[in-house]
Amino acid sequence: MLLKDKIAVVTGAGSGIGAAIARLFVSEGAKVMIGDLADSGGVLAADLAAQGFEAAFQRVDVTDEASVARLIETAVSRFGRLDCLVANAGIPECKSPIHELDLANWRRVIDIDLTGVAICNKFAARAMRATGGGAIVNMASILGHVGQENSNAYSAAKAAVVNLTRSVALTYARSGIRANCVSPGYVDTPLLARLPEATRQAMLVRQPIGRLARPEEIAEVVGFLASDRASIVTGACINADGGYTAI
Ligand SMILES: NC(=O)c1ccc[n+]([C@@H]2O[C@H](COP(=O)([O-])OP(=O)(O)OC[C@H]3O[C@@H](n4cnc5c(N)ncnc54)[C@H](O)[C@@H]3O)[C@@H](O)[C@H]2O)c1
Repeated sequence: MLLKDKIAVVTGAGSGIGAAIARLFVSEGAKVMIGDLADSGGVLAADLAAQGFEAAFQRVDVTDEASVARLIETAVSRFGRLDCLVANAGIPECKSPIHELDLANWRRVIDIDLTGVAICNKFAARAMRATGGGAIVNMASILGHVGQENSNAYSAAKAAVVNLTRSVALTYARSGIRANCVSPGYVDTPLLARLPEATRQAMLVRQPIGRLARPEEIAEVVGFLASDRASIVTGACINADGGYTAI
């Protein structure tokens, strides 16, 4: 098993990509603490536990330091230590040309998609330092690498996540903590389902492989980076995007 006896915290695991990551992790032998703002995280944890997997839920708001500290502490006290963090929680933005930028929207997206990742990395690194190492996987996006019209805070946040990950990797390179990120292209999740149909069709046209990714395909990449098989990989970002950024 890829993640046998690993102890993992996955944020935003109540839905979409995070839920697929939690499912893959437990099926590969990990014990998973699901962190989410929504009740769906608890529903998934109960479902996995009913199937005999080691999974639990702790409500978290990744923008709140005390809340994230509690999530990590709960994982450590329940399972004994922390081996993997997947900082996946994130939200899309209401797009607009920059001359119509809504600052409240900008601040909310930066708060969750960037500051939330930094806060999760902070408390995970503390726990991992205490036990000699671990693996951090941050969720970025193709929009952290390429521009897109009317994308403001989301693009800025995801690009920052890519470079934050590199700095975290270098900071702990000799402490046994690896930090990497994954940049999905368009993935068929509730996040995309909430977008207008015309926007979804425009996304499909831009996908070189001609289809959206499935959340499970992103989870496979995260699982590899979180595992010991990626022992030489740190400071990297894997574009899991069906060729989007290859053009
Ligand atoms: N779906 C895509 O096409 C796509 C593409 C590239 C990157 N991503 C990234 O992947 C990640 C997951 O996206 P998804 O499509 O699965 O989204 P989703 O909306 O299906 O799931 C996101 C989860 O994050 C949780 N969440 C939101 N704010 C939170 C907060 N403050 N604290 C804790 N939890 C919070 C939500 O409750 C939800 O369960 C995000 O970071 C997103 O930016 C998604």
